[in-house]
Amino acid sequence: MITPVTIERPALRGPVPLSHLLVRSCLKPGDTVIDATCGNGYDTLFLAESVGVDGHVWGFDIQQLAIAETGRRLSEAGLSARVTLIKDGHQTLAQHVTVPVQAVLFNLGYLPGGDRSIITRPETTTPALEDSLTLLAAVGVLAITIYPGHSGGSDEQKTVERWATALNPRSYHSWRMAQSNVAADAPYLLFVQKVA
Ligand SMILES: C[S@@+](CC[C@H](N)C(=O)[O-])C[C@H]1O[C@@H](n2cnc3c(N)ncnc32)[C@H](O)[C@@H]1O
Repeated sequence: MITPVTIERPALRGPVPLSHLLVRSCLKPGDTVIDATCGNGYDTLFLAESVGVDGHVWGFDIQQLAIAETGRRLSEAGLSARVTLIKDGHQTLAQHVTVPVQAVLFNLGYLPGGDRSIITRPETTTPALEDSLTLLAAVGVLAITIYPGHSGGSDEQKTVERWATALNPRSYHSWRMAQSNVAADAPYLLFVQKVA
């Protein structure tokens, strides 16, 4: 008898499903990972599912609303035990996480449905990206979704692009992935892998 196999076929609309596809393919059960911008908790939930019961997710956001919404989503899914949520800026992540991690997700910009004036900013994003590289295990990955279209977004885009372009290719594979048939300021993905 042939056992039917269920294959998830992701709709690759925009950078977030693409980041999930790539990150998931780089994770193994038991891994430790970071969600640097929890927001409404979709990425945190994705990571919690991906690392399995023996893995762990560290989640950061500066807004109580985001931490509460993420906590609610994890609790509904029964996955709270494998996630530590921290209401603090990702620029402090190295103070909280001291073990090597296999992936760090940054989903920049503002909280959808929240206050659009509270955004990620280059002066805090850059040190958080630097600390993430330090924490990454060999072949670990960094997925950064960039939103150039909102107020303040293009400044952050320029800073993060400069940072990603300057990474030494002997130490990191740094990728830019953008959907081509969308507006020029549509969100897109930067993806960095630490060389083994
Ligand atoms: C686009 S949302 C994240 C979406 C989220 N990953 C999801 O799955 O719903 C960006 C989030 O970054 C948060 N943020 C802004 N500055 C931050 C900082 N310095 N550290 C951590 N989070 C920050 C905002 O509060 C907002 O919730």
